[in-house]
Amino acid sequence: MTAPPLLAVEEIYTSYGLSQVLFGVSLEVAAGECVCLLGRNGVGKTTTMRTIMGLTPPGRGRVRWKGQDIAGRPPHRIARLGIGFVPEDRRIFAELTVGENLDVARRGAGGRWTEDRVFELFPKLRELRDRQGGVLSGGEQQMLTIARTLMGNPELLLLDEPSEGLAPLVVHHLGEQIGRLKREGLTILLAEQNVDFSLALADRVYVVEKGRIRFQGTARAFREDESIRQQYLAL
Ligand SMILES: Nc1ncnc2c1ncn2[C@@H]1O[C@H](COP(=O)(O)OP(=O)(O)OP(=O)(O)O)[C@@H](O)[C@H]1O
Ligand SMILES: [Mg+2]
Repeated sequence: MTAPPLLAVEEIYTSYGLSQVLFGVSLEVAAGECVCLLGRNGVGKTTTMRTIMGLTPPGRGRVRWKGQDIAGRPPHRIARLGIGFVPEDRRIFAELTVGENLDVARRGAGGRWTEDRVFELFPKLRELRDRQGGVLSGGEQQMLTIARTLMGNPELLLLDEPSEGLAPLVVHHLGEQIGRLKREGLTILLAEQNVDFSLALADRVYVVEKGRIRFQGTARAFREDESIRQQYLAL
């Protein structure tokens, strides 16, 4: 018997009140993969991640973690199973220092991630250790948001549009750091509008439009079919 994928989203329908946003979204992420969820503004990328995290439970469908349905569980319990969410709005504590932001996020003792290890990945944060979160640049805040989530020792990292609003050079640098996380074996689900940034990291791609999956395949298959990009991702 083969092991189930780490995460399997099965036919989820999610709405905000009367407004239906997801219409039967299914996707899988196997251990060690980097999977990208690509799509334009407002198609349901964040809602998919919020559904996985339990922040907006699905009206129908299942979210399986290692085979077990976790849909409907509260977010803190889902986080404790080993799913770390890096939200697009970078909710760091502005009044706390970088070091304190990391300390608050620490979960238990003896995990893989320590302050020293996140500083190895993000050397800039070591320099900024005593600086208040609120005064950091957008790129530095994004690093801190990722670093803070790593302190919870997730098995799966959900990254919601990490490149949004950042300068090209900062985006490039961030891509290298996420690439390092992937090479170290962390499993990643990345939601993005930035296709080039995503393809540099992705093993597989799902394209979402109006709450439905319109394409799924390897990064290579996506690259080779220019029409998908034209149809669902061109501005
Ligand atoms: N809290 C909410 N209440 C009502 N509607 C919402 C809420 N959050 C999102 N929506 C709507 O759900 C739809 C999908 O939004 P979602 O944030 O999932 O898209 P997205 O793909 O992440 O977009 P973006 O690239 O802009 O982040 C949009 O039409 C949005 O207006
Ligand atoms: Mg979003």
